[in-house]
Amino acid sequence: MPRPLQFSAFVMNTTSHITHGAWRLPEARQTEFNSLEHWVSLARELERGRFDFIFFADVVGLYADHRSSWEKFVESGLQIPSNDPSVLASAIAHATSELGIAITSSILQEHPFNFARKISTLDHASRGRIAWNIVTSLSPNAWRNFGYDDITPHEDRYAWADEYVDVVYKLWEGSWDDGALLQDKERAVHGDFTKIHKIHHAGERYRVEGPHLVAPSPQRTPLLFQAGSSPTGRRFAARNAEAQFIQSPSPKDAKALIDDTRRLVVEAGRKAEDLNFFQGLSFVIGSTEAEARRRADEVDEYIDDDAIIAHAAGGIGVDLGHYDLDTPIGDIESEGSRSHLLWLREAVPDREPTVRDLARLRTRNGRVVGTPEQIADRLAEWRDAGVDGINVTNYTIPGSYLEFIEHVTPVLQERGLAQREYRPGTTRRKLTGADLLDDHHPAAAYRGAFS
Ligand SMILES: Cc1cc2nc3c(=O)[nH]c(=O)nc-3n(C[C@H](O)[C@H](O)[C@H](O)COP(=O)(O)O)c2cc1C
Repeated sequence: MPRPLQFSAFVMNTTSHITHGAWRLPEARQTEFNSLEHWVSLARELERGRFDFIFFADVVGLYADHRSSWEKFVESGLQIPSNDPSVLASAIAHATSELGIAITSSILQEHPFNFARKISTLDHASRGRIAWNIVTSLSPNAWRNFGYDDITPHEDRYAWADEYVDVVYKLWEGSWDDGALLQDKERAVHGDFTKIHKIHHAGERYRVEGPHLVAPSPQRTPLLFQAGSSPTGRRFAARNAEAQFIQSPSPKDAKALIDDTRRLVVEAGRKAEDLNFFQGLSFVIGSTEAEARRRADEVDEYIDDDAIIAHAAGGIGVDLGHYDLDTPIGDIESEGSRSHLLWLREAVPDREPTVRDLARLRTRNGRVVGTPEQIADRLAEWRDAGVDGINVTNYTIPGSYLEFIEHVTPVLQERGLAQREYRPGTTRRKLTGADLLDDHHPAAAYRGAFS
């Protein structure tokens, strides 16, 4: 019997993450994001429903202006205010025991020495349940918030990311040998000096002496997620990531993307199955198909197309607020997210997509509407296409997840599409069968390298 799918709840410490406008639905409580209780109780519910991850997206700046202003973002609560997700992680770790906690952090926002220290501390606190979604920040405002004149060009961002991961791998994997922490009261020796090493990293952007200040955590390197879909982004994922978030328009497109990326994984010296793929989907559930469709129409009454476009344009790097809805997307290729444009072209294969297609597809593509049984049928198709997990986008928090767990999960469990019980151990062990990165991963090369 094939493996069950993994499930990740895709959230952000903000009101309006993706399905803009849905925060106004009567049952929506995502405006309560400032409350720790809001997140802790969601995490407990996810664990009850055997979700594998709570996955926090994050940004460190506004998206690019919409109609030459950032007013639209404030007005629609579109990722402003936006709170730091990493602060929630230790509370969630304390309130749960099995749920993986994935945090997005950009190479821009934190020096790698400090980031490595924070993540190791969280991995200890959660007993090995931390995952890191590696992002490179595609908002020029974010770069200006950290002292740069403008966004670093796409290829250079990935070169930067290469050095950033190199530094943290050295700290996580190479700085401390196993058995360095003794805490021996009898002999009055707390740590073994011969087993802890400075890393002396000196690169283009960072100089880090070390040693790492935290003793090895259960996973050492957190489970590594990545979401870039440009050729360079996918090569980065192929070298580094253990899970990749994808937004394919259909199982067929996902299969092509997965096969091709797995080829890159092998080229990078790893095993094809070392990279897992999580497809983003949202769900509108009904006890009949007609009821589900009616509910989808209700949701659509609240969807704010203008906000959807403002957000999408942030990834593309052009102010689409100035364009007519029927403008072809073709002329507006930019420094920003190439994967967004690729996605749009795949979704509208027969003609050049327009701005209007972008708004519609962003909300309706990746949405599964139906009865729990119909949803299970669709998820079986994604699994057959080679998808390992589903990244579940919400319309309401906690409603979208509570409904899924109550109505869909039991059907999925019945069909072997969702787990009934967690596998024991760390988040990496649950996903891959081992606590630590395997020897083929580039980080493993630093084990023993500084002795
Ligand atoms: C499901 C998903 C989640 C993402 N989450 C974030 C995020 O939280 N923060 C962020 O800055 N970028 C996020 N991104 C953007 C990606 O990290 C990446 O920058 C983008 O897909 C462009 O990839 P490319 O640079 O390879 O073209 C996400 C992308 C996807 C598909």
